Amino acid sequence: MTVATPTFDLVVAANRLPLDRVVDDSGESSWRRSPGGLVTAMESVMQGRDAAWVGWAGEPGPAPEPFSDSGMYLQPVCLSPTEIQEYYEGFSNDTLWPIFHDVIVPATFHRNWWNTYRTVNHRFAQAIAQTAAPGATVWVHDYQLQLVPAMVRAMRPDVRIGWFNHIPFPPVELFAQLPWRRALLEGLLGADFLGFQRTADAENFLRACRRLLGMATKADTVTFTPPGDDPSARRTVRASAIPISVDFRALDELARTPVVIARAAQIRASLGDPKILLLGIDRLDYTKGIRHRLKAYEELLGDKAIAPPDVTLMQVATPSRERVDAYRHLREEVERTVGSINGEYSDIGSPAVFYLYQTYPRDEMAAMFLAADVMLVTPLRDGMNLIAKEYVACRHDLGGALVLSEFAGAWHELHQAFICNPHDVEGLKQTIMRAITAPQDERRRRMKALRKRVSDHDVQRWATRYLDALASAPARPHRPTRASDEERRGAERANRSNRRALDKASERTGQR
Ligand code: F6P
Repeated sequence: MTVATPTFDLVVAANRLPLDRVVDDSGESSWRRSPGGLVTAMESVMQGRDAAWVGWAGEPGPAPEPFSDSGMYLQPVCLSPTEIQEYYEGFSNDTLWPIFHDVIVPATFHRNWWNTYRTVNHRFAQAIAQTAAPGATVWVHDYQLQLVPAMVRAMRPDVRIGWFNHIPFPPVELFAQLPWRRALLEGLLGADFLGFQRTADAENFLRACRRLLGMATKADTVTFTPPGDDPSARRTVRASAIPISVDFRALDELARTPVVIARAAQIRASLGDPKILLLGIDRLDYTKGIRHRLKAYEELLGDKAIAPPDVTLMQVATPSRERVDAYRHLREEVERTVGSINGEYSDIGSPAVFYLYQTYPRDEMAAMFLAADVMLVTPLRDGMNLIAKEYVACRHDLGGALVLSEFAGAWHELHQAFICNPHDVEGLKQTIMRAITAPQDERRRRMKALRKRVSDHDVQRWATRYLDALASAPARPHRPTRASDEERRGAERANRSNRRALDKASERTGQR
């Protein structure tokens, strides 16, 4: 039986669904939690809401059937192997990602990648347009889907559209390098409200609209006149900062469970019970400053300021975008450096660096956070960095110290961390030493203040602030007519029956 697509009052769209479909060697498929901070944050926001999530299921080929998970309707979007190469690995992660992160590595421009980016954004927009109920709220996420707001507006002028950027928005001088800068800005301006991590990101966006599109901006708004200059089609779009956060209460509770506490002790014991355990947990990405961190650590060992087994470093590098050249090179470089540090400074049974190229579940990460005396979060550029906030949320014991880069969005909120500039290796070494040697009272005082900030500004508060800002954004969407009110009632009846049919189908096929 074919089940018509049910519709929802809230539709979230992100490049990835919260679950990735993985097929093993025997052809058996299963679902696994997707990587990345976006999913971690949005999953807890979406739970219990009657909402749909549109996204890619993480594998090439035809999209799996839509299904319900934890009360959420998941609508997979398909990507062919070429689209994965050109839209995801290419344009999103080899063109936009470097431009949006200070060009730490050079950006690559290919016209065919851009064409594929447009095609895939259009496919996402179609899936959203099919899933959104009349007058629905559509919340689009991140740099992979910058054309989607305008595309959805053209298909469904009745819906309210928001976009949130999880990564930095670059200064206009960098953004201007993009040959497709105008189309990207016009794509975003299809939204009613654009959310950013930092005020500087929102300002960069508004400046780009002024300088590259010649549009008028006032405070945090831009007046958008669509191509053709029809004054009646003018809309005001708001762009401002609403920094993302973590599910403080859930992490705090998890880190208090006896099993996590016991596991933290076990981790320390397996590492030889160091006096000081330094920890880094990052996606293996050149923006995260892992090489700078290793250099500072290596020099501290060379200076004999620290030495294993008293002090040791555990570096978790989560595999990411492994087919993009810059990521492959970074992995080689990091692994070579770890090998050389261990060759020089380890002893039998006491390595200087424990390096783990793996992905860990949430409870194991909570145990690592609890086990670590000093958490090193040293990105060269980062939209927010939720690892910093997760560490704080897990330290209910007020133990631990956070070393945080001033180039992470989190720095704008977590001033009581030990702040560093990762480009300044000497300064980074001093900051690490200050965190290691700070008196317990000072560490506790700092951690208490950090925890208060994250608990007062948790992910639920972020989502509420975002959705309120979207609901009250100035642009008025197209109002449904009387006739469409009647259509709406009919559609709601059909929708209820479609959802019942879908739930039964999900139960029958045993999908989660
Ligand atoms: O926030 C940046 C981001 O690209 C997210 O969109 C994504 O969830 C995460 O990092 C992980 O990246 P990827 O989906 O490319 O593995």
